[in-house]
Amino acid sequence: MKRAKGNKKIKCVLAIETSCDDTSVALVEAPGKVLAVRSLNQDDLHAPFGGVIPELACRNHTLALLPLLNEVFVESGIGWKDIDGIAVTSKPGLIGSLLVGVSTAKTLAYLNDKPLIGVNHIEGHLHAPLLTFGDYAPPPDFDYPFVGLCVSGGHTSLHHVKALGKYTLLGRTLDDAAGEAFDKFGKLIGLGYPAGAKLDKLARGGRRDAFDFPRPLMKKDELNFSFSGLKTAGMMLVRERPEVLENKSDVCASYQEAIVDVLVAKLKRAVEKTGLKRAVITGGVSANSRLREAAQNWAAADGVQLLIPPLKLCTDNAAMIGLVGLLRLARGEKSDLKLSPEAFMKVSELS
Ligand code: KG4
Ligand code: ZN
Repeated sequence: MKRAKGNKKIKCVLAIETSCDDTSVALVEAPGKVLAVRSLNQDDLHAPFGGVIPELACRNHTLALLPLLNEVFVESGIGWKDIDGIAVTSKPGLIGSLLVGVSTAKTLAYLNDKPLIGVNHIEGHLHAPLLTFGDYAPPPDFDYPFVGLCVSGGHTSLHHVKALGKYTLLGRTLDDAAGEAFDKFGKLIGLGYPAGAKLDKLARGGRRDAFDFPRPLMKKDELNFSFSGLKTAGMMLVRERPEVLENKSDVCASYQEAIVDVLVAKLKRAVEKTGLKRAVITGGVSANSRLREAAQNWAAADGVQLLIPPLKLCTDNAAMIGLVGLLRLARGEKSDLKLSPEAFMKVSELS
């Protein structure tokens, strides 16, 4: 496989991810085997506030990070002598959260005399399906180039992934991310925060055609997304006809179907436009059971090889950061100890 090539001295990396409210540490071995991954989400801490509170997130990263680090070493049975480098998410994300991970990684790299590499969080998501973890492994013939749909709470974008570091941005959301469309509507109908997984569960018993929600930009011959109109339509329905919430399952199934229809239609269009026959879906929303089902149905019908990683690799995790770090270190790249976190990323970085 192309991705396995590189400097054979880089065999195992320690990876840290703290870009938002999930603290995660992983050990990843070449060419992409997850030896151990430990993640702690802070959902219960932020739930009473209805969203992520940045100060709370970074304070809790400082509490969680070192115990998780200890756990991955214990679980894998390996020691510092087996580590060839340290990878850390350096952008984009909440600046205070990123700072905790980056400062910790820099300190560990300095103390243990290991090379350091800063990794882009979205690049990590795009590589998650290439990891080997538990029973999951990408098919041996799956490699670059592929179309990547990244759908999370903060991002919704489509990429032509040509090789490590070679990407073309095909489309992105013009307003809300798909995860936000789930979270904000879910919060409105009393599902708390984050609402995606709860809405998914409720939708399983509901009728997908009970309500006709808009599918923004779906028919347009472009690859950008827009979810704010759908969110407003959901809000209007609940405000004008509050009785519809007597059957939340129908409301959730119909609302979810609108998001899924748009995501699958755009992925299909991206595959057709690029002429590629390989695709991945990644990011927290790729945990959605209906999206998985609809996308797999489309892929089977169109003869497309589609990878969607297991749930633990869909949401924010350090293993995906470890894989990108491993590949970049193996080809001789590294960051210096001046590495600084960056909250934002230029669109051109992944284009
Ligand atoms: O990738 P991720 O863990 O963090 C970000 O980088 O944003 O994604 C979190 C998002 C949240 O919006 C959450 O509601 C959504 O993923 N999510 C889901 C499901 N599980 C998580 N959305 C729909 N269905 C799910 N099963
Ligand atoms: Zn993410």
